[in-house]
Amino acid sequence: MERTFAIIKPDATAAGDAGAIITRIEKEGFKIIGLKKIHLSKKQAEGFYAVHKERPFFGDLTDFMCSAPCIVMILEKENAIKDWRDLMGATNPADAAEGTMRKEFGKSIDNNATHGSDAPETAAYEMAFFFSELELV
Ligand code: PPS
Repeated sequence: MERTFAIIKPDATAAGDAGAIITRIEKEGFKIIGLKKIHLSKKQAEGFYAVHKERPFFGDLTDFMCSAPCIVMILEKENAIKDWRDLMGATNPADAAEGTMRKEFGKSIDNNATHGSDAPETAAYEMAFFFSELELV
């Protein structure tokens, strides 16, 4: 079993799409072992995305992520990291395949509905950023 970290971003949460996304996650065989709704501060968003701090979109990305509440989750299944990335689809919803979360619920590259860890080390960092072991079931 593998764990990954997922976010239903502020755009999808505000649009009322969280329920549909969670239903799909469960239908695809992921077990949700941690979940909470939070409203990130700018400082928290900058900390979470620190790896992207030199990129030109860093300010826009962190502004967006603290613009409204989002839902953070830890998902568990075999190959959870790759399978959740596949289910999310390409970063830009315009390039995402039919049936993926970003195709269905994303609006643009900067309002792309979901986040998922890209590697085991990132997943470990991101899970620990938001959850303690005590919160996982
Ligand atoms: S990825 O999925 O990490 O490989 O994608 P990457 O292109 O490296 O993008 C990293 C995160 O930055 C977001 N992003 C943007 N936000 C705002 N504006 C622009 N132009 C933009 N381009 C990329 C992208 O959605 C990734 O966020 P997360 O939360 O990791 O999905």
